[in-house]
Amino acid sequence: MLQLDLSKLSSFLPDDYLVSRTQGLELAHTMLQESNGPGGEFTGWVKLPANYDKVEFERIKGAAKKIRTDSQVLVVIGIGGSYLGARAVIELLNSNNYNLKKKDTPDILFVGNSLSTDAMLETIALIGNRDFSINVISKSGTTTEPAVAFRIFKSLIEARYGKQAAAKRIYATTDKARGALKTLADTEGYETFVVPDDIGGRYSVLTAVGLLPIATAGIDIDALMSGAQSAMDALAVPGLKNVGWQYAAARHALYEDGKRIEILAGYEPSFRFFAEWWKQLYGESEGKQGKGLFPASVEFTADLHSMGQYIQDGHRNLFETVIRFEQPSGKLLIPIDPDNVDGLNFLAGKDLSFVAEQALRGTILAHVDGGVPNILITLPAIRADVVGWLIYFYEYVCGLSGYLLQVNPFDQPGVEAYKKNMFALLGKPGYEDRKAELESRL
Ligand code: PA5
Repeated sequence: MLQLDLSKLSSFLPDDYLVSRTQGLELAHTMLQESNGPGGEFTGWVKLPANYDKVEFERIKGAAKKIRTDSQVLVVIGIGGSYLGARAVIELLNSNNYNLKKKDTPDILFVGNSLSTDAMLETIALIGNRDFSINVISKSGTTTEPAVAFRIFKSLIEARYGKQAAAKRIYATTDKARGALKTLADTEGYETFVVPDDIGGRYSVLTAVGLLPIATAGIDIDALMSGAQSAMDALAVPGLKNVGWQYAAARHALYEDGKRIEILAGYEPSFRFFAEWWKQLYGESEGKQGKGLFPASVEFTADLHSMGQYIQDGHRNLFETVIRFEQPSGKLLIPIDPDNVDGLNFLAGKDLSFVAEQALRGTILAHVDGGVPNILITLPAIRADVVGWLIYFYEYVCGLSGYLLQVNPFDQPGVEAYKKNMFALLGKPGYEDRKAELESRL
């Protein structure tokens, strides 16, 4: 399913970079498979594609069907891991223009991922008079951004339909027993879906967190899960032929060689949010204890006309991973023009994908010549099973990479610092001393 081309690393890394990491990879692999490494209590995602709750999975499909029947808009409230995965999959499979398309599935509007008044007001205006439902997603049930957004949209939906009917349009995805959202959902009678205890936010796209919005957008979640399951089976086999091991070793070797930034480069506009999901996954998993590759992303060819200059010629502390989908969904031939004023007749009759392919090949070689190691990942097409495979692959490589770096890839202690300051400045009870100290510094 996934082809990994590491041949362009040969001028940057010693020949034995993979073999010399065998022991570390074996250990990392075992810790993931046996859930006994740092953060092992959050490795439920490793076996999830086979072990997922089949009863809940059917309930997700049922809820998605109901939403498609009674709503023209689904408002998805969540942030971080409770947001990015669903948006990544919906945009990649159904286009970044999904909401603009003529379709028989609801628009999906994401809120609670910022504190922007303008964005929130715009979402309310975009719903307008249309029928809508809400999926509020928060594992902890206490995250400020989605909690504030839910207050606002709860009052909106209750004003529209009345409290009782509104409750039938609100779906809460949260912890099975704990947290303010779970308490609220039980009190108000919302249908609830579970974020499993052993799966952290950024690894949760293949749970109800991602699956309910994804299924509502009409995506085949059976195919998504079966793709993830075949990745799980393939990557569970230890050894240097394992593409997960190979990619993790290459990233680690490049990091040890002084590279500090991994740029994920896509050639499809619909890939942009997949890269956002990937950035959160890797940024939160690896970036700790003063270590880790900084995950960045570009969208080619657009960014060849902006970031391309830096990549070719700037500080040499980066490498690229390029994602290539082999088969576009259709053909688009370049027409012949008898006048040929633009001089493009040498391309007449060629498919646009041929032009894109030469741009990709030429760019890889130019960047390698400019001192940027390039890794190429090729996938057959943008399909649900392929996307499931790619999700699992990136999660697995992330776990391996974190362990090779000797960090816990499943915690995120660093995200607490801003929260504490924000609570203090907002005047949350219990933060009085911190508030005074911060105010004096501002
Ligand atoms: O990966 C993570 O754990 C975080 O990004 C969370 O997903 C994010 O902070 C949202 O948390 P919650 O789902 O508890 O609202």
